[in-house]
Amino acid sequence: MTAPESAALPPGDAGRLLTVSSLSVALKPGAAPIIAGLDLAIEAGETVALIGPSGAGKTTLLRALGGQIRPSAGAIVFNGAPLSTLSGRRLRETRRLIGFVAQKHDLVEPLRVHRNVMAGALGRWSDLRALRYMFWATASELAEARRALDAVGLAEKLKEPTSALSGGEQQRVAIARALVQAPRLLLADEPVASLDPTTAAEVLDLLTRLCREHDMALVCSLHQPDLAQRFFGRILELQGGRLVRDGAGATPPSAHDPGRA
Ligand SMILES: Nc1ncnc2c1ncn2[C@@H]1O[C@H](COP(=O)(O)OP(=O)(O)OP(=O)(O)O)[C@@H](O)[C@H]1O
Ligand SMILES: [Mg+2]
Repeated sequence: MTAPESAALPPGDAGRLLTVSSLSVALKPGAAPIIAGLDLAIEAGETVALIGPSGAGKTTLLRALGGQIRPSAGAIVFNGAPLSTLSGRRLRETRRLIGFVAQKHDLVEPLRVHRNVMAGALGRWSDLRALRYMFWATASELAEARRALDAVGLAEKLKEPTSALSGGEQQRVAIARALVQAPRLLLADEPVASLDPTTAAEVLDLLTRLCREHDMALVCSLHQPDLAQRFFGRILELQGGRLVRDGAGATPPSAHDPGRA
């Protein structure tokens, strides 16, 4: 067995969930970087809003943090593993600990709600179990889906077709799926952009509360600074691929939010 790659980390990084050092991302070799020399550290349970104008690089940064695109320079260390250089099985295993909630949810609408929720478990199931689940869900699988749906206030929708739910309810199903995945880091790219203001506030309240309760770190891009201020422990602002602000939000911090009273 090879030595754990975390053994090579600087000692200060040992307990940190995510450390980003001098990160640059260019989508083509030689092109101007979209993210330029960014440094960032995030602890478990922190709720971080990512704001900034259109084109600032929010989606690009989230995709790099999720291991979906490789940095052109710098390093991303997630949960002790050098995410930016992993490939193959190690990359897949590490990405299992990173959840994603998209702007327009990526649920399969014709499926019943519990099947979309339990898609969060596919990364830890064998192919055979996943195939069997397509046709027949066990009582314990349904119970797990119901628990996750209960956490987002939708237990009664367990067996509804997903297409029969409202936009806000569907976004909550996507959050329930992330709970089943039980990631250590949840990335959300404008998860409330297509919702009305009241529903958007409800979804952000739920998302940030569940992340605190489950000790998941959350990085969530948003276009509304007021919502960022209201619901998040920390606010990052990107402009032109650089961090121009890193400050506290109004929400009481989790036990892990560093240095915030
Ligand atoms: N696939 C791509 N090919 C070329 N350029 C891209 C690609 N994706 C993004 N870009 C460019 O990278 C820059 C940052 O884009 P990104 O989508 O990260 O911004 P954003 O902050 O998420 O914007 P928005 O708020 O509109 O979602 C933009 O100038 C964009 O045009
Ligand atoms: Mg974007």
